[in-house]
Amino acid sequence: MNHTSIRVSTLRGDSKINFDVFVKINEKMIHYLRRGDSFEGTRLKRLKEKKLKNLYILVEDEPHYRTYLKTNIDSAYDPNSKKDVQTRAEIIQGDQQSRVEDVFENPENKEFYLGTKTASHKFVEFLTKNSLAAAAVLKIENSDKNLAHHGVTVATLAVALSHKMKQEDQKVIQWLTFGSLLHDIGLHETPVVYTQPLNLLSPEDLKLYRGHPHVGIEKLKNTEHFDPQVLKIINEHEECLDGSGYPKGMLEKQLDPLSIIVATCNAMDRLLTFEAISKTDAPKRLMIDQVGKHPLDQIKLLSEIIKSL
Ligand SMILES: [Fe+2]
Ligand SMILES: [Fe+2]
Repeated sequence: MNHTSIRVSTLRGDSKINFDVFVKINEKMIHYLRRGDSFEGTRLKRLKEKKLKNLYILVEDEPHYRTYLKTNIDSAYDPNSKKDVQTRAEIIQGDQQSRVEDVFENPENKEFYLGTKTASHKFVEFLTKNSLAAAAVLKIENSDKNLAHHGVTVATLAVALSHKMKQEDQKVIQWLTFGSLLHDIGLHETPVVYTQPLNLLSPEDLKLYRGHPHVGIEKLKNTEHFDPQVLKIINEHEECLDGSGYPKGMLEKQLDPLSIIVATCNAMDRLLTFEAISKTDAPKRLMIDQVGKHPLDQIKLLSEIIKSL
């Protein structure tokens, strides 16, 4: 029997699957779920805990899998959907995450990039037209510390923050979202354990870590489809207002305003997801320990957003 790999992040929500799913253990395919099951609740949680990124289906089931994906995503984006906002958010978050994973792994693929860009605009619409949508996406725990999930979280924080900053220009919000989704493409390529607190990294690894935005830009040097605004955000998302960021140590006046917003949201989710800091303590860390690195008004607004979850 021939199998093909599918992303776990695409299997979300309450719809029943119309294909069998396998897990690969010691090069053997083990039947994991049968058609008629779904991926909601505890089952999804267990999969996340196992840190599995891929599952398998039979090659002949691929058309069924594609239909499942399309129906699931269409119903999640449908404003008249009968699904509750949390289920819709889970499906949409999973779709965004799997697209980011595709671009991280295949940056040279123009089709993936453009598909992700179009889908990110739909994501913006979902987030801006439903008052409960951002909170529902942010409630999805990144328990396996997945880098693409972190991108979706940063994008959601950026949209929620721009709403609080009274930013109404849809184009600006779209660039902010798309740049946030892809900001850590260089970290994906960097051989350090970025899922642990940075103070546990050796000096050599910390040096590598601090070079990750540059690695991203180098990696994309020969691709022509990455938009200049996205490249700017990838390059500047670890820079700080006071010049203490990296890789270049740029100053506030040299930074793109969108990069500054992504940097604040990124710093917040870095603390929450990878440094194991609580929602109450994360804003304090940014305001006190990291004072001067990010705009205080942005930290305060972000703090309101995460406290309301
Ligand atoms: Fe980063
Ligand atoms: Fe990041």
